[in-house]
Amino acid sequence: MAELTSLLKEGRIFYPPQEGKDQAYISSRYKYKQIYQYSLDDPDEFWAERAKELITWFKYWDRTCYWDFYKPEIKFFEGGKLNACFNCVDRHLDNPAIKNKAAIIWQGEPDRDTKVYTYHMLHSEICKFAKILKNLGVEKGDRVTIYLPTMPEAVAAMLACARIGAIHSVVFGGFSSEALKVRILDAQAKVVITCDGTYRGGRRITLLDRAEEAIRDCDCVEHCIVLNRFGDPIELKDNRCILYDDLKKDLSVAEYCEYEVMDAEDPLFILYTSGTTGKPKGVYHTTGGYLVYAAHTTQWVFDLKPDDIYWCTADIGWITGHSYVVYGPLALGATVFMYEGVPTYPNPGRWWELVDRYGITILYTAPTAIRVLMREGDQWPKKYNLSSLRILGTVGEPINPEAWVWFYVNVGRKRCPVVDTWWQTETGGHMIAPIPFAVPQKPGSATYPLPGVEPVILRADGTEADINEGGHLCIKRAWPGMARGVWGDEKRFKEVYFSRFPGYYYTGDGARKDEDGYFWIMGRLDDVINVSGHRLGTMELESAFVEHPAVAEAAVVGFPHDIKGEGIFAYIVLKEGFDPTSELKKELVSHIRKVIGPIATPDFILFAPGLPKTRSGKIMRRILRKIAAQQFEDLGDTSTLAEPEVVEKLVDLRKNLK
Ligand code: WT7
Repeated sequence: MAELTSLLKEGRIFYPPQEGKDQAYISSRYKYKQIYQYSLDDPDEFWAERAKELITWFKYWDRTCYWDFYKPEIKFFEGGKLNACFNCVDRHLDNPAIKNKAAIIWQGEPDRDTKVYTYHMLHSEICKFAKILKNLGVEKGDRVTIYLPTMPEAVAAMLACARIGAIHSVVFGGFSSEALKVRILDAQAKVVITCDGTYRGGRRITLLDRAEEAIRDCDCVEHCIVLNRFGDPIELKDNRCILYDDLKKDLSVAEYCEYEVMDAEDPLFILYTSGTTGKPKGVYHTTGGYLVYAAHTTQWVFDLKPDDIYWCTADIGWITGHSYVVYGPLALGATVFMYEGVPTYPNPGRWWELVDRYGITILYTAPTAIRVLMREGDQWPKKYNLSSLRILGTVGEPINPEAWVWFYVNVGRKRCPVVDTWWQTETGGHMIAPIPFAVPQKPGSATYPLPGVEPVILRADGTEADINEGGHLCIKRAWPGMARGVWGDEKRFKEVYFSRFPGYYYTGDGARKDEDGYFWIMGRLDDVINVSGHRLGTMELESAFVEHPAVAEAAVVGFPHDIKGEGIFAYIVLKEGFDPTSELKKELVSHIRKVIGPIATPDFILFAPGLPKTRSGKIMRRILRKIAAQQFEDLGDTSTLAEPEVVEKLVDLRKNLK
C-alpha cells in the first residue's frame, strides 16, 4: 500500500494561558509527560490510584488490569463492586457542598421552559424512576431502550437503569422508527422509555408516533413508558404504553429505591454505532472501567472544578452525551447545563446568549456546529460578553484549522484553550487530547495521548510508520473505558477491531505523528483518496477549501479516474453573497494547488446547495462518492439523513456537470 501522505502543514502553536494554570490539575507539559510515563510504566498503580480517587467502591478489586487483544478479552477492576448511579448521585448527598447544588440546569428551546435539578432532587427523581422500572418487572441484566430528547428526565432514566442494574440502550431521538425498531430488537429490550416530543427550530417534533410504530413489531417490549414534555394531554395508541406521570402518582414523595451492587465487569449500557458495512453494531461498556475512565478524562481534559457550569452540546443519544453529559460530570459532582434546541434558532446568537445567561465556563461541541455558526458571521458572538468561558472543546471529526481559530478567537477571545478530543464510541472516553493548561495546541491536531493511552501508527504491513508518515491509528494496550464487545455478536467485535493488526486495537482512522509527537487525525481511512499513489486525507482538502473566503462548507471524495487511480471531486457550499461562476471555480482550483500542491488539483468542483448529513451532522460520504462516480442507481438508504431532498438536487447537478 502506498504511504499515506499528509500535506497540510499547520504551523501555528497556541500556548495555554497563564490565568488558571496555577489551579489546574495538570499545569505544565513537564508534569503531563511525567504522569504519562508513569501511567505506561506502571498501569496497575496508575489506574488503581485514579479508580480509588474518583470512584466510591463497595469492594475493591482483585486484579486491576487484564487484557489479551488476541482473544480478545479485556477486564479492569475485576472483582470490584460498585454502582454507577450511586457514584453519580447518592454519594454526593453526604457532601454538604454538593447536596443542594444544581446537578442539571435545563433550558428548553422556548425561553419559558427551564428546569433545575439539584443533586438531592435528581436523586429523588431517579429513585422513583427506578422503582417504576422495578414494579414493571425490570431486573438486573434486562435491557431498556431510551428514546428521549435532551431533557433532565432522560438523565434520570439512564441512571435509574444503572441503579437497578438494567442495561440501557439510548437511541438518538432524531432516528426514524425503523432505526429505533432495529435497535430495540437487537437488544431485545423489555421496556422502552419515550415522550410526546420535543422542540426543534421552533417546531414541535413528535417522538411518540415513531416509538409506537417501532414497537408494533417488537414482541420483546412489555411496556412503553411515556413522559410528558409538552404538558398537554397525551393520547396513547399501543396498549403497552403507560404515562410516566400516572406511574409516579402511585409512589410516595420520598420514595426510595435500593441500588444493586454491581460487578465492575457487569454491562452498564449498549450504544449503537454504524460500521462501514452491515447493520449497526451495539457496542457495550461495563460499569467499573467505563465509569473510572469517564470521570478521569472529564476531570483532566476539561480541568473540571466544583464551581464550573459545564455545557456539552451533544445529545445523550451519542457516546459524547453518555460520557460527558451524564457519567463523567455527575460522577464528579459538577453542574451540567443542557439545552434542548438547535444553535441557530431563533437566531445564530442563541448559544452565545445562553453562555452569558447561565455563566457557562466550559463549552464542548462539534466542528460541524462551529462551522455552521462561523458561516453566520462574527457579528453574532461579538454581541455577547462570553467572559465566563474558560475552556472550549471539540469532538466528532477533525477540526479544520480555520474553524479552530475562529472558535478560539471569536468565542474564546484568545483566552481559552481549545481541547480537540479524538476518541470513538468504542473507546468510551477521550484518547488523544490536549490537557488544557499543560499542552500547547496546534489547530487541527488532537495533540498528545492521554495518560494510559498508547497509540501507534502502523503501515499496512504492520510495521511502525516514521515521523510524519501517515498510517493506521492503532492502540497498543487496553484502557479502562474501552468497549468490551458487540452485543450478541462477539465474532464481529474481534473481526472489526482486533483482526486487521493482531495484538492491537484497530481504530479505523488514519493519522500521522509529527516531529513534536503531535497526532494529526486524517479521518476514517475509507475517507482517504489515493491520487497517483499519494493518499490525501479528504479532511485536509476540505480544510483548504474552507480557508477560501467564498467557501462555507466543503466535502471532498474520491472517484475512479483512468490515469490517476482516483480523482478528487469537491462539493462546495458557498457563503451568502457569492455566485457559482466558472471564474470562481478556477480560483478555487488555483487556491488548492497553492495551499496543498498540484497533486491535490481538484478534477471536479460542484457548487452544492447543501450536503447530505446524518442527523448527528456527519457528512454521508458514501452517497457523495456514488454521485461523484455517477452511480445514481444505488444510493443506499437515505432515510437517516437530515434533509434527504438534497440528494436529488446533487444528482441533477452532477448529471449536468462538465
Ligand atoms: C470517529 C468516531 C467520539 C465521540 C463522537 C464520535 C472521528 C472523533 C475526532 C477528532 C478527528 C475525530 C474519528 C473517529 N473523530 N473525534 N477530535 N478529530 N476525528 O464518535 O461516532 O464513534 O466516531 O469520529 O474518525 O474514529 P463516533
